This record gives sequence, C-alpha cells and structure tokens, in this order.
Amino acid sequence: MKDPSAPAPHAPASFADIRQRIAKIPRVDIAIKNTPLQEMPNLARHLGGPRIFIKRDDLTGVALGGNKLRNLEFRLARTMSEKPDVVIVGLDLQSNSARQTVGACNKLGLDTILVLEGTRPDVVQGNLLIDYLLGAEIHFARDRHEQRSLLDSLAADCRAKGRRVHILNDNPMFDVASALAYIETLMEMQDQLQTAGVKPTAFYMSSSGKGAAGFEIARKLFGGFAIHSVTATSEFDVPSRTAGIANQTCEALGLDLRLTPSDITNFGGFVGARYGVPSDAGNEATRLFARHEGIILDPIYTGKAAAGMIAHIRENRFSRDDVLVFVHTGGSPAVFTWNQLWTGGASHRP
Ligand SMILES: Cc1ncc(COP(=O)(O)O)c(C=O)c1O
Repeated sequence: MKDPSAPAPHAPASFADIRQRIAKIPRVDIAIKNTPLQEMPNLARHLGGPRIFIKRDDLTGVALGGNKLRNLEFRLARTMSEKPDVVIVGLDLQSNSARQTVGACNKLGLDTILVLEGTRPDVVQGNLLIDYLLGAEIHFARDRHEQRSLLDSLAADCRAKGRRVHILNDNPMFDVASALAYIETLMEMQDQLQTAGVKPTAFYMSSSGKGAAGFEIARKLFGGFAIHSVTATSEFDVPSRTAGIANQTCEALGLDLRLTPSDITNFGGFVGARYGVPSDAGNEATRLFARHEGIILDPIYTGKAAAGMIAHIRENRFSRDDVLVFVHTGGSPAVFTWNQLWTGGASHRP
C-alpha cells in the first residue's frame, strides 16, 4: 500500500489553480454541492479503530441524490450545446445514474428516454420506480447489443418526428465529467477537513474508474493522503480504466500530468458473487452504518465499498490516530429493491 504521508508525486498544485482550470469547462448548475462532512463516532467506537468521517454525496439534491448529479453538470453542459429537446441514454435496469439523469434532465426541461438492460420486473421498485415517477419513457433491452440498436432506432424515430436528440452514451464528456467532478469533491472535502482541524489518512469510495480517476489526479497533485477505491464490478481492469480516464481528464484541464495503472489503488475483492448482487459483507456494512449512525447505504455500491473499509480496519491496517473518510456516493433507493435483506434477523445493533 502507498505511504499516505508521501508528498505530492507531481509538482505541487494549488486548489485555486485547479479550480480555475475546471471553471473553464462548460457546466450547468444542477447538484447541491458542499454536501456535509460528518464524523461517525459510534461506528468508529464499534470497530475500535481510526476516526471515520463520511462525505454525504448522497445529499446532492435532485431525485434522491448521489454522485452522478455532480458529473451531470459537465455532461449535460456538453449536451445542451447541441440544443436537444430529448436525451436518450442506455444504462442498467436499476441504475442510479439513470435516475439522476432523468431528474437532472427534468430540471433542464429536457425529455428523457431510458433504454435499460434487463426485463421489466413484476414489482417495480428502487431506481426504476423513481425513473417512472420522474416521467421517463422507458424501454428494456435484453443485452448491450440490443440496447445499442434500440438507442439508435429510438433516436432515428425521434429525429423523423422533428425532435432534436442527444444520445448521452456518445457524449465525449461522459467519463471525464465524473473525474472533473471528483477532483472538485476532493478539494471540497479537504477544505471541510481543514476547517475541522483534521488531516485525512485515506479516502474510501465505491468506483469502477470514473470518480476514482478524479481522486487519483488530486492525490498526484496535492499528496498527503491515500485513495482506496473499491469496485462493485469485475467487468473492467479498473486500474487501467482509471488511469486512462485520469489521463483524458488531465488533457482536458491542460495539466502536464499522466497516470499509469500502478498509480491506482483499487480493491476488487469486495464484489461478491457479481455486479448487481448483494454480498454478505456489503449487507453487514449497510446494517452497521444504519444501526450505528442512521445512514442508509445500498447493497450494490456503497455497502460493498464500506465492507472494504471495515475489512481493512479489522485487519488493523490503521491506528487510532488515522482518519478515514468514506464517500457516500448515493444509491440508497436500492435498499427497497432488496427489501428481503433487511426485514429478518436481529433488530438490535450488530
Ligand atoms: C452509488 C454509486 N456509487 C459509485 C458508483 C461508481 O461510480 P464510478 O465508477 O463512476 O466512479 C456508482 C455508479 O453507478 C453508483 O451508482
């Protein structure tokens, strides 16, 4: 593991310089930013390890919140430059990203068509329920191949009716937007931690590359802390993907900085059976956050990332003088999809 106290491996950068560079990139105002950073003393006491803080990026304000609203400020600014009236996007059946995209498009006065991979369940719950409530037109695709052809045929139908269409999957800002947003989030957290008089040892976050790319750029630029991203999928080689997105983002910012896969600390051991299926460790972490701190995670992304952090604390990787920051990236509507996980078992604190 990297030494978190190591200085910035790149020439030191100032927050002001990086903020100025980000400010040159087109953006629309959608998310509530400066989300709270809170200490979790009960959970820390229960685990008997370091101090733990949580960044409440589940409270970004639109359609039940989450990390994507920050990204959508950059993605949809690019979209709006094409002056569309309808956005079409292909995502997973229970995608948090889909829910937040529809909410953000509603704020911008755009219609949304979702092409979700999977079949419509008998009982509509979680993110899918919110997608309907938000008024998206929803189609289902058996696999990625069918999803892509549906995206194209629906776009062609809309154009034939005289509509101006933007397919969000083809947006060149798709990945870079997330990295930009999370460089900014990291600076925001550092300001909040400094106000609290606290120096972080490591940040934990669920990411399969996009948000982590932003955090890893910030680590290279500012130094003094470790980034521990935890992936919820085995679909990608996450370190290569993260470094690739980080490098596109550095280019977009005009930064003379490049990352390689060896720069990335990503933990792939907490996926469980596979993407989209809860794991015992993730469910335990979700219960611990709920019962000790009243914070609702989700069993697909944040619960698994929290399981990674908890496992590392239990392995005594940190001392009581260390400070961990867990970034809650949202996703809590999934607890309703997996309702049977929470109703059985002990009603007291585990
Ligand atoms: C709740 C939640 N956390 C984390 C992530 C991972 O984000 P990324 O891989 O874009 O950094 C997602 C992605 O959909 C998510 O929905």
